[in-house]
Amino acid sequence: MNTEKLISTAKALVADDKGLLAMDESNPTCNKRFAKLNIPQTVEARRAYRELIVTAPGLGETISGAILFDETIRQQKKDGTPFLKVLVDAEIIPGIKVDTGAKDLAAHPGEKITEGLDGLRDRLIEYFQMGARFAKWRAVITIGDGLPSRSGLEANVHALARYATLCQEAGLVPIVEPEVLMDGDHSFERCLKVTEEVLRNVFIQLNCQRVLLEGMILKPNMVLPGLTCPPHKEVKEVGVGEQQYQVRLKDRQPDESSDVDEVADATVKCLLRTVPAAVPGIAFLSGGQSAELASARLNAMNVRFKSQLPWALAFSFARAIQQPALEIWRGQETNVKAAQQALLHRARCNRAARRGEYTSAMEET
Ligand code: G3H
Repeated sequence: MNTEKLISTAKALVADDKGLLAMDESNPTCNKRFAKLNIPQTVEARRAYRELIVTAPGLGETISGAILFDETIRQQKKDGTPFLKVLVDAEIIPGIKVDTGAKDLAAHPGEKITEGLDGLRDRLIEYFQMGARFAKWRAVITIGDGLPSRSGLEANVHALARYATLCQEAGLVPIVEPEVLMDGDHSFERCLKVTEEVLRNVFIQLNCQRVLLEGMILKPNMVLPGLTCPPHKEVKEVGVGEQQYQVRLKDRQPDESSDVDEVADATVKCLLRTVPAAVPGIAFLSGGQSAELASARLNAMNVRFKSQLPWALAFSFARAIQQPALEIWRGQETNVKAAQQALLHRARCNRAARRGEYTSAMEET
């Protein structure tokens, strides 16, 4: 294991207030998003869309690394230039999703286990030889009645740690992603408790499996109430005056049911309790929040806490960077330029959020 290289790659992924662009949707996920916009679900459409992303002019000014899917890492621009070369020329570090997806966990109704450990060592060697320098594995934790179970949680964090050690052995920085899903009617407070429990167990397992903490990045969810959490439930559990909150929540959209600063405070509190200072960076997933809220919440964390934190607070968004661009593109060549501008805009907003300089006025320009 080349420790120095791992550490310098991990640091580079969160340097200069840049962040990661997750463009590693599996084919079924990508196809689902295309289908909603009547875009053909073909290899060529996926290739054309990914070409739009990697060739967005100046992307490397805001994006440090791009996470690719197995199909994408092997693809080229229409003129034959490999995507990997396009990224490296733009000073963007190529990364690769290496899990093979979340499947039902046997005897655990409602819970998933992420697969992909079999044969992983050989796949990592191949990806490294192709030019990837970091990898991603996503574990999915569902909050529900009696969920997550102890055994479901343990199985997922164990797999994450096994993956992380294998990555480091192969010279790839592991992005360790334990995602507590927003689906459900759980309260803000419950998300805080579960996320804390998950992260505590993630680091126990990472230590057991001898993962070099300086050579990894954590990719967690922000602490948020479930998408269908009734506002009054949240009010009671967080212990804030009910009247005051009901008034504030009245006109908000479902995923806006928490105050930006409250999310920032709870998320950072949770991370301070669980993430060792040796970890160089924490790059959040967006998890289905709107693009603007993801930027605003990351911004609030950096405004309020940046100077006191041992790790960088960055982003590793997929939907919160790509969705507006995808909706403009809709599979039409004539929309490529406008879609690229939308993508770059979101990337710039998130870089500003890392600096604590994001404002809603940025959305009006
Ligand atoms: O694994 C999930 C992606 O890397 C992050 O996606 O930002 O749309 O949640 P998201």
